[in-house]
Amino acid sequence: MLTIEAISNYAEALHSGVVVTEPVLDDGGPRIIYANPAMEKLTGYSRDALIGSTPRVLQGKATSRFTLKALGQALRAGRPFHTCVTNYRADGEAYLCEIDIRPVFGPDGRIERFIAFEREVVRRRVRVRPGRNARYKPIDQRVAAEAEGPLARFACFASPLD
Ligand SMILES: Cc1cc2nc3c(=O)[nH]c(=O)nc-3n(C[C@H](O)[C@H](O)[C@H](O)COP(=O)(O)O)c2cc1C
Repeated sequence: MLTIEAISNYAEALHSGVVVTEPVLDDGGPRIIYANPAMEKLTGYSRDALIGSTPRVLQGKATSRFTLKALGQALRAGRPFHTCVTNYRADGEAYLCEIDIRPVFGPDGRIERFIAFEREVVRRRVRVRPGRNARYKPIDQRVAAEAEGPLARFACFASPLD
């Protein structure tokens, strides 16, 4: 079993958001049982607010229903799902989020948990120049580096950002 202790040993210091849920997808699920500090920073929700709640609180008007349907189908079939979706922070700000969700199987082959790695996607078409191009926020290089570092073990995220 992927215990909270084991996952927090690994995820507490990461710059990418990590969220772990129970396996039940219906009846108001999946219920969040762990979120790391980077997830608090990304979403603006405290850990206490996230735990016991569901990742659906991150959804809003611009969240693609088409993507969510495909996501739901993949998770129900026990398949991982990697996508970009519009999420909303606690203060209502929308952000584009790359999410890599995967089931964690127990020894009996049943899904015990879901784990997701989440990071903001910041589009950058031009080089950022201080005082100009203010729309384009620089990418957090620490998160990009992590995708190649400890997270590579989980094979999450297709590529580092940029
Ligand atoms: C670990 C985990 C993290 C998730 N993170 C997000 C997220 O950041 N944004 C989002 O819109 N949905 C997220 N979801 C998906 C929703 O919880 C839900 O599965 C999705 O809305 C599809 O199911 P539904 O059709 O029953 O709503 C996540 C699911 C899991 C299991």
